[in-house]
Amino acid sequence: MEPIDPIQPLRDALKVSPENLPLRRHLAQMLAAAGRWEEAERELRDLLTRAPDDRDAKAQLAVAFVRQQKLSQAMVLTEDLVRRGDAAPAILVLFARLLHHNGQTSAAVHQYKKAIDAEPSVRDTALEADLGLGSRRSAPEPQSGDDLDTDDDRFEDGPEPGAMLISPDDLERPQISFADVGGMETVKEQIALKIIHPLRHPEMYKAYGKAIGGGVLMYGPPGCGKTHLARATAGEVQAHFLAIGINDVLSMWMGQSETQLHELFEQARAHKPCVMFFDEVDALGASRSDMRNSAGRQLINQFLAELDGIAARNDGLLILAATNAPWHLDPAFRRPGRFDRVIFVPPPDAAARAAILRIHLKDKPAEEVDADAIAKKTDGCSGADLMGIIDRAVESKLREALAKGKVSPLTTRDLLDAAKATKPTTREWFATARNHALYANQGGAYDDVLAYLKLT
Ligand SMILES: Nc1ncnc2c1ncn2[C@@H]1O[C@H](COP(=O)(O)OP(=O)(O)OP(=O)(O)O)[C@@H](O)[C@H]1O
Ligand SMILES: [Mg+2]
Repeated sequence: MEPIDPIQPLRDALKVSPENLPLRRHLAQMLAAAGRWEEAERELRDLLTRAPDDRDAKAQLAVAFVRQQKLSQAMVLTEDLVRRGDAAPAILVLFARLLHHNGQTSAAVHQYKKAIDAEPSVRDTALEADLGLGSRRSAPEPQSGDDLDTDDDRFEDGPEPGAMLISPDDLERPQISFADVGGMETVKEQIALKIIHPLRHPEMYKAYGKAIGGGVLMYGPPGCGKTHLARATAGEVQAHFLAIGINDVLSMWMGQSETQLHELFEQARAHKPCVMFFDEVDALGASRSDMRNSAGRQLINQFLAELDGIAARNDGLLILAATNAPWHLDPAFRRPGRFDRVIFVPPPDAAARAAILRIHLKDKPAEEVDADAIAKKTDGCSGADLMGIIDRAVESKLREALAKGKVSPLTTRDLLDAAKATKPTTREWFATARNHALYANQGGAYDDVLAYLKLT
């Protein structure tokens, strides 16, 4: 006689009452516990069509995907949970594993730390070792037999060179990547979710009916890495990079601005994948007098139409924008599918300052510099300020070298001296931002600024 499948009675019961969601959940759990992942996946999918917001079902489905080596699907699902702030610590660990598998180690570390901060019991020592955390062995060894040890379609080939429509000066192929950007973990993560994963796994987003499109708007004090990160984003996905100063577009002859703007989008389309970066986007401001006349309005409309066109056609154009004055920007830009992700880019914290210093000291003759000590003394400094400090230290070293006739490496002391002589530049920006955040905080748009200033 066939052994009785303990799961069959559940199936039978569900046939009678397919809408019994607790029962279906139970069935899925039984299947998962029995390692019958394919069947578990089927039930969970069914469950999610009936209860699309069931986050536990989503979390279980993510696990089922991983168990079946369907890593792209697992990635899409977990990042969706994470983005909604719905991810349990165990799912954050799973997400970290997937990110690590994707080669996004710093994002993986960030998620992993978040997970164990929230729930220390989810610690995963194997993953820690892979991420170079906690253990002595810093070079991660790939574990064979690892759950995630599988081939995975990557976006590796890069774009076709294509015909150049504009001068190579305007259209770059940045050689820097996220590894060249210190700190900024939250921003990197948002850009990964919104821009990088959709580009790498468009079919997955399609499968889940998850809309692609829309851009990321970064705002914050000057010199804190907005432009740098935009360029690194392009490098990260081996895309072209087209930086557009809105003020340059605006200074065109009347009526030519729109043509020029359209032309720029066309050029980007001809060089997909392409990161378009709109700097000083606040120039398209609802409150600016030159934007209130009909010509200005027309340019705004042109811009919005181009953005909407991208959302509709999801075609390998990635849109980033930056501003120091988000409060001037026309609110129409913030609608879904446009710049629906607005991210505050704060001045780097101590850890980020140390990272930035290390990045920029990499190719300088320097002895073992104590970046953390310098980071401690440079509160309020932007990335640009830190570069200024290095410059200043180099200059004084150079003077010394010329006098002595020999080159000696930069020391921690040199950098500390230079730091002492440097005034942080971000405070001024906060004086303005603070007022907008306190008195014109439209729908909590500047809550992050208030939180940064500890005013909440
Ligand atoms: N997080 C960072 N990591 C590494 N370098 C950085 C970082 N932030 C800033 N820098 C360095 O400082 C320089 C200035 O930063 P960037 O131009 O990106 O700032 P920004 O936020 O765009 O400023 P603005 O608002 O004035 O346009 C960059 O060229 C970069 O070398
Ligand atoms: Mg900039």
